[in-house]
Amino acid sequence: MSKDYQELYRTYKAQIETYLEKDCFIYPEEPQQELFESMRYSLLAGGKRLRPIFVFDFCNMCGANWLDATAFAAALEMIHTYSLIHDDLPCMDNDDYRRGMLTNHKKFGEATAVLAGDALLTAAFTYVAKAPFSAEIRIKAVEVLANCAGELGMVGGQVLDMDSESRQCTKEEVLAIQSRKTGALIKAACLLGVLAGNGNDCQISAAETFAENLGLAFQIRDDMLDVIGNAEELGKAVGVDTVKNTFVHLYGLETCDRLVKEHTQTAILALNAFSNHDFMRSLALELTERTK
Ligand code: IPE
Ligand code: IPE
Ligand code: MG
Ligand code: MG
Ligand code: MG
Repeated sequence: MSKDYQELYRTYKAQIETYLEKDCFIYPEEPQQELFESMRYSLLAGGKRLRPIFVFDFCNMCGANWLDATAFAAALEMIHTYSLIHDDLPCMDNDDYRRGMLTNHKKFGEATAVLAGDALLTAAFTYVAKAPFSAEIRIKAVEVLANCAGELGMVGGQVLDMDSESRQCTKEEVLAIQSRKTGALIKAACLLGVLAGNGNDCQISAAETFAENLGLAFQIRDDMLDVIGNAEELGKAVGVDTVKNTFVHLYGLETCDRLVKEHTQTAILALNAFSNHDFMRSLALELTERTK
């Protein structure tokens, strides 16, 4: 990957991490310190920060100042982190490690982990509300984010994912699960980037097509890594999705590798709606081979 790509990735990542570290959930006067600690424990645990980077770069590709999109980017990472905290709970995937650290409930107990997730989800909307954009843009952003995170989006996908355990699903059913549980938040990230950048209708629909295909490729690769990945590098256990319905179970690794590449190519084609899309193209390509 080019030096420009790597430098911009580092710049975007540093921006979101500094903001989350310095500006989020520090209330020295409040008594519920354990809750803040638990929220910050998972929020600052690292991770690829892909969803904030989608927000920043889609804003950038629309020709606007991407730094203005920081609060939108933070909101996405808060909702993503909450989804991981809840996904790891004993009543869901029952995982002990995440981002190379003990899962939130292992560290703080289940009640605090549930509440930290609730608080991160709720706080996300405060950040959208105070972003430096017109009321019209912020209201649209709230609607997109709520739709993508809620019962028709990520939460809906998680429900279908749990319901489908230990039974054979069709390709259409697996697609429906994956587009919701993972694709929806990636779509929210790309769309909030375009909203922040004041993009046009054509750019909104291109962002949707990009996110649908990239989201699918991303989750198929996640399922492949559950089989071929390394727990230490991934920061989470592998071999845990054997009862889940994944494309790996439907088609095997080789076909999945091809599907990841095909959906990534379709995603990349949609980027033609943006004049300078070198960074996003490189990021999409890099994700097809990711090992973490
Ligand atoms: C993990 O997401 C959960 C899925 C939706 C597959 P990421 O792979 O983006 O996790 P982090 O943020 O880098 O830890
Ligand atoms: C998680 O999917 C999707 C969400 C958290 C919404 P997985 O259960 O496959 O994610 P990992 O493998 O635990 O990161
Ligand atoms: Mg899960
Ligand atoms: Mg999981
Ligand atoms: Mg997984």
